[in-house]
Amino acid sequence: MADLVVTSQDIIDRILALELVRVTERAAVAAARLRGRGDEKAADQAAVDAMRRELQRLPIDGTVVIGEGERDEAPMLYIGEKLGTARGPKVDIAVDPLEGTTLCAKDLPGSIAVMAMATGGSLLHAPDVYMEKIAIGPGYPRGTVDLDMSPEDNIRALAKAKGVAPQDICVLVLDRPRHKAIVEECRRVGAALRIVPDGDVAGVIFTTRPRETGIDLYLGTGGAPEGVLAAGALRCVGGQMQARLILDTPEKIDRAAKMGVTDAHRKYDMKDLAAGDVIVSLTGVTDGPLLAGVKFARQIIRTETLIYRSVTGTVRKIAAEHRDMDKFKPA
Ligand code: FBP
Repeated sequence: MADLVVTSQDIIDRILALELVRVTERAAVAAARLRGRGDEKAADQAAVDAMRRELQRLPIDGTVVIGEGERDEAPMLYIGEKLGTARGPKVDIAVDPLEGTTLCAKDLPGSIAVMAMATGGSLLHAPDVYMEKIAIGPGYPRGTVDLDMSPEDNIRALAKAKGVAPQDICVLVLDRPRHKAIVEECRRVGAALRIVPDGDVAGVIFTTRPRETGIDLYLGTGGAPEGVLAAGALRCVGGQMQARLILDTPEKIDRAAKMGVTDAHRKYDMKDLAAGDVIVSLTGVTDGPLLAGVKFARQIIRTETLIYRSVTGTVRKIAAEHRDMDKFKPA
């Protein structure tokens, strides 16, 4: 009988999950119109405008905790901006309207529109600094990998837990000089490396669906806001992630402290990054291993979206065909 009881909060969660699909779809379509045009800023702005417009319509009392920047540097979707009709649940909002701006501008694989919505006060207020991260997908014993272990030890431990050889593990890292040591160590162990030019929200999320993406382990340093978004998706499916902010100047320590970070060296677990009930939605802008990019045809726009819900652990892949072109007109 208990299963039949549906609370108003459940209904809100379910309805909001579908609403978030619309939000990232609109942002993805707006960015995709500028795919391959070599203009990162224009594509990002189009995604920001579209995402903000949709979020404003939602029946929520939302606050942006991960956004486009501080209020003085970002006029829209800035940290602290209130969104929604204010008639609804208090929620934290984390957005990256166009993740992989350069990928989109060059029409390379892997750019997405992504956002998370969580119980108010439950997402880490991460400053815009780098974050060291390690992530694996679901199905492994807790503590299989650890941020403070070497890449070699992590690969060996993961291989053992998966029941394969270290050579059968595929690691994703961003293509950055700072990852030279990680790359060398992975090569020594014989693991496969997928070295991507950009996009570590998607990179971490790839570990949630290794059969589709081929990625077992994410290693390396990317943006801290991106880390919070990705942690939300991992939580929904029982993946694992650890992270540490890189606060290597007094200015960064100060900035982080103003956002409530009291321990500059703290090792965050996935639940410290995204604590409460969370919904994460991501729509492909360009084609990628997880999602097809937006396709424009005559009087029809096709999108592909993944939506993760932590309450149930459900992941839905929604392939949509949009025929109401007015909804996708730029503002
Ligand atoms: P943008 O979408 O803002 O261009 O970020 C792309 C990205 O690759 C992120 O996925 C990643 O977290 C970050 O850049 C890494 O930063 P950097 O390019 O400074 O190494």
